[in-house]
Amino acid sequence: MGFGFWDLALAEHSEVIISHRVISLKYRPQNFDELTGQNHIVLSLRGAIKSGRIGHALLFAGPRGVGKTTTARIFAKSLNCIEGPTVYPCQECQSCREITLSRSFDVIEIDGASNRGIDEIRNLREGVKYAPLHGRYKIYIIDEVHMLTDYAFNALLKTLEEPPPAVIFVFATTNPTKIPTTILSRCQRFSFKRLSVKEITTRLNKIADKEKIKITKHALHYLAVRADGSIRDGESILEQLVSFIDGEIVEEDVFKLIGFLGSNFYFRLLDEVLTKDLGKIIVMLNKGIEDGADPIEIYRGFTNYLRAALLIRTGVPWEFLELNDEEIEVLQKIQLSKDEIINMIKICLEFEEIVKRSVNARIAIEILFSQLVRCLTKTEKQRNNSKVTSSSCPNENADIKEVLFSGLQKSSPKLAGIIHETDIKKSDNNITISVKNEFAKTQLMNSQDKLKSIIKNLMNTDFTLNIEIVQYKEEEDNLIKTIKVLFDGEEVR
Ligand SMILES: Nc1ncnc2c1ncn2[C@@H]1O[C@H](COP(=O)(O)OP(=O)(O)OP(=O)(O)O)[C@@H](O)[C@H]1O
Ligand SMILES: [Mg+2]
Ligand SMILES: [Zn+2]
Repeated sequence: MGFGFWDLALAEHSEVIISHRVISLKYRPQNFDELTGQNHIVLSLRGAIKSGRIGHALLFAGPRGVGKTTTARIFAKSLNCIEGPTVYPCQECQSCREITLSRSFDVIEIDGASNRGIDEIRNLREGVKYAPLHGRYKIYIIDEVHMLTDYAFNALLKTLEEPPPAVIFVFATTNPTKIPTTILSRCQRFSFKRLSVKEITTRLNKIADKEKIKITKHALHYLAVRADGSIRDGESILEQLVSFIDGEIVEEDVFKLIGFLGSNFYFRLLDEVLTKDLGKIIVMLNKGIEDGADPIEIYRGFTNYLRAALLIRTGVPWEFLELNDEEIEVLQKIQLSKDEIINMIKICLEFEEIVKRSVNARIAIEILFSQLVRCLTKTEKQRNNSKVTSSSCPNENADIKEVLFSGLQKSSPKLAGIIHETDIKKSDNNITISVKNEFAKTQLMNSQDKLKSIIKNLMNTDFTLNIEIVQYKEEEDNLIKTIKVLFDGEEVR
């Protein structure tokens, strides 16, 4: 009995699952033409079917929800159709109909995740001895095959070494690296790709048309971005939206459901960064977080738009960006040089781990944006100062700071965070670290030995280390107060 039936069986018992599964079940492609993307795979499978050169073990590898199981079933249908083997299975004969309903005795689906053991594979080895009941081939589709135990793989290997006649295995997996090479080397491999935003949009558009679901172009775009390469995920988000929205689905609905902030949010944020209004930026960040986006999400979204802005300036084909036309238009007009964007991306990347690992990611992201503003302010000062031509973030001793920062990042991330907030100057054998407040000073004083040894490694000479407090603008001081909260109750390593 096919395990694809599970979907239906589960659906009978759970309302929630019904709402998530109906579209993806109803719109499971039944022939090669209906598959979105994966053309390279369709081509070679069709070639194999036409030429009759069909391997006895096929491996379908690729991300979740991109059509592996679906393709395996279409392939089985093509082989066993009464008019086959054919690349256009008739869909009407007994075999075709049974496969559509997951009821064919000759097409056996096994979920590798829940049938991992030796007993299941032993049963399989018994089963392969018997000829197909109705069709030409007996086809075993083993889903998530990488979950099998070593014993089970060994047993399977024996079968693959002496493939019984008229038996074909299709192994599907999201994680081919976990499959033993002895098995891999006996399989013909097909690599399924994650689907592009455009492919997902096209597919969902067709489904929306057929289901008379009204959804705006923008809403569909963001939904497809969120589906992250998987049509099935896209279908289930659409399904969820339909279940709670009457009338047309608009982008705000999508954002609400998935805690996602649209391009408008990021473009306004970028505007505020350009006008260097830290206060407004902080309010916006917090509003975004209140609206359900987590700081990491904001981090990712913002960095992605910066990346897109950079790529637009380097002239890559826009298809790579997976943005809609309006987004590209806005990003083209942004008043930032290539170097400025690169610097901003660098700062973002430096903060990635901090935002991800911080107990208070909200503050981490606030600090990140204060750094971005600061970087731009400095760039501007530098631009006005005719002596300096480079537009990168000025820091005469960026190297020392960078080395300290990266040297500390793993062992003492909080100290690294403090270093990030400092200015470091070097003259002769003096290194002066300027900090913003007593708190930061104490923390650095306490860790002088550590700092010294890192710098010594870099410079190879002796030097004296001064740590001093300098006055900063008021808004930055406020931020420092918030940093303190971050450290509250915890000793800085
Ligand atoms: N390439 C595709 N074209 C059209 N629909 C697709 C495609 N890929 C997935 N789908 C939709 O997603 C559903 C699930 O696809 P399928 O089970 O084939 O994915 P999978 O790659 O086997 O995923 P998993 O790794 O999670 O098992 C299908 O029923 C179909 O509705
Ligand atoms: Mg599958
Ligand atoms: Zn048929």
